[in-house]
Amino acid sequence: MDIIIKNIGSLVTCEGSYRKKGEDFKDAKIKENGYIVIENDKIKAVGQGEGYSEYIKNDSTVIDAQGKTVTPGLIDPHTHVVYAGSRERELPLKLNKVGYIEILNSGGGILSTVENTRSIGIDQLVEESKKRLDIMLEHGTTTIESKSGYGLDLQTEVKILKVNKILNETHPIDVVSTFMGAHALPKEYKMDRQAYIEVIINKMIPYISENKLAEFIDCFCEKGVFSVEECRKILTAGRKFGLNIKIHADEVETIKAAELAGELKATSAEHLVAASDQGIKALAQNDVVAVLLPSTSFYLMLNNFARARKMIEEGVAIALATDCNPGTSPTESLQTVMTFACFGMKLFPEEIINAMTINAACAINRESEIGSIEVGKKADIVVFNSKNLNYLIYHFGINAVDTVIKNGKIVIQN
Ligand code: NIG
Ligand code: FE
Repeated sequence: MDIIIKNIGSLVTCEGSYRKKGEDFKDAKIKENGYIVIENDKIKAVGQGEGYSEYIKNDSTVIDAQGKTVTPGLIDPHTHVVYAGSRERELPLKLNKVGYIEILNSGGGILSTVENTRSIGIDQLVEESKKRLDIMLEHGTTTIESKSGYGLDLQTEVKILKVNKILNETHPIDVVSTFMGAHALPKEYKMDRQAYIEVIINKMIPYISENKLAEFIDCFCEKGVFSVEECRKILTAGRKFGLNIKIHADEVETIKAAELAGELKATSAEHLVAASDQGIKALAQNDVVAVLLPSTSFYLMLNNFARARKMIEEGVAIALATDCNPGTSPTESLQTVMTFACFGMKLFPEEIINAMTINAACAINRESEIGSIEVGKKADIVVFNSKNLNYLIYHFGINAVDTVIKNGKIVIQN
């Protein structure tokens, strides 16, 4: 069945299926008075004015956008959406200035979510996670990356990755799966970190790769969590089994994790709040996508955001994500992230939308299929109830979604 969207005030196409950097990044290729023709699950035509009329058939669904703003379906390339429980008890601790790593090392933080996630069955875990995907979709997200890392034993890591698979097959949102066994040191191995790293390398990676449960591998490369040397070992082992590399790099302190991302030619380096000048250069030189998570910076109360403007100057491609997780960013909404990207990191609206569409697609190796409104791409499209792109980011704290189309089907309509 065909869908035609006409009278689009601002058609934000984000055209061009490659990493957007520098001047290119500032241009979201907006067309005024646009239209889109969708056939089955793909975009068949894009244009301006009345040209859509020649595509109208008897059974076409015609959506009148009434001058609203239309963008590619938003892509969230960094989430930890599969977990059990919640961590609101950490809020007063944070207000009392107890540090994030301090909470983690005293058995709270990630480790408390690990306990909750280990203790429930797969059906319940699907149920809890699905609710968050529903909220994502309502807020305009059509593809996500989802990391394991709240299991930290083979059985629970596999359970989480199977939830990714089930959600990908049953929910309208497409889910790209990442294995993150090196998210924290589980309490059973507190006295023998080497042994846990061996488990990741010799048991988890081979099993996950053989059973095709993940496409990427990620490590929390941070002072007090996993060192650069440990991450190099784990990530290289993952690559040998066909997993592509992502790194949680320099989130809180500089330990040259961004440099490691460059050295390994990772697909992406993520967080990067404390990345050094050298680290930023390494990302640019090796074409590593920087996935920035400004809602996490806000939520950690550290009063600093990743140096996005510096990264842009140096020629790094930037993507944005929610980091959706129960500790440092309990939100499903990329619209919320837009607010922090603009007001915290000083990104312009056109940069923000490129970062949540085409560059986000690059961060998960999907740029040839999604991330822009172009002929031949998947029909993943959002109609926002905003008169232009600036307005979408200017009016904050609300859900501006009017309609979401996923794979050529209307999945949300207000
Ligand atoms: O991206 N940095 C590590 N992992 C998550 C937080 C996980 C948690 O606190 O539960 C993050 O911030
Ligand atoms: Fe994260």
